[in-house]
Amino acid sequence: MSHLLDSPLDSPIHATLAQRRDCLAKMGIHTWVRRAAYRSGTVVEADALPMPVPPPTPRLVSAEVKPMVAAQKHPSSVNPNDTSTLGWEALEHAVKHCTACPLHHTRTQGVFGVGNRTAEWLIVGEAPGEDEDRQGEPFVGRAGQLLDQMIRGMGLRREEIYIANVLKSRPPGNRTPAPLETAACLPYLQRQIELLEPRIILAAGSVAAQHLLATSLSIGVLRGRLHRYGAQRVPLVATYHPSYLLRSPSEKRKAWDDLRLAWRIFHSIPPDGQDL
Ligand code: URA
Repeated sequence: MSHLLDSPLDSPIHATLAQRRDCLAKMGIHTWVRRAAYRSGTVVEADALPMPVPPPTPRLVSAEVKPMVAAQKHPSSVNPNDTSTLGWEALEHAVKHCTACPLHHTRTQGVFGVGNRTAEWLIVGEAPGEDEDRQGEPFVGRAGQLLDQMIRGMGLRREEIYIANVLKSRPPGNRTPAPLETAACLPYLQRQIELLEPRIILAAGSVAAQHLLATSLSIGVLRGRLHRYGAQRVPLVATYHPSYLLRSPSEKRKAWDDLRLAWRIFHSIPPDGQDL
């Protein structure tokens, strides 16, 4: 018999409690679980979830959590490729063969994105690193392993998520993307978001957060609150990039708080698509 229970908000919880605890422990985060229930094997999964279910009040859009709307850059003004009418296949082809910025000279391949093209969760990173450049898939290296743990810690599976980067080509030596490069590449991500129509976006790191929100505010300022992306006002939560967390493990607790916030926001959206 399955021990997996639905959460009070009807979200299937796929990872077992032990798996989630393991993920969090690997992230360096230890959660509190009622010992008696754990010992007796009668743990109710949703009860022990480290992500508290939000109260029904729309607290998350109160004055202290200021929504921001990203100013959409016009694709054709920053990229010679007009992506606005492309479907998934044509868009992927365009990314893989893109020569819009000088990075195509040094990359192995364009890294499009990976995951379920009907996913409700979108995670956006910065740019492919060495492993991603070689394998053609985002987040397959060390940062990707931590991202996997973060995903599993939220009780989600990779198949429920779509993952993409702001930049589709690896900057040499993993340097910070140049403005010319992100300007050329952003229309691809914007079109991916249009096609995916996610219900929530998790921006991992300052490059993703700043470009999606069209702001120069630091990730320390952007994280920990609800933003909105684009005309559809898709809920967006920014958090630290997994690579940064590998370098600064003491910040993992804040990242976990951000994931919990995203989870709570996601489950506060009524199924009929009404706003919070
Ligand atoms: N870092 C990112 O931002 N994206 C990747 O795909 C890999 C590492």
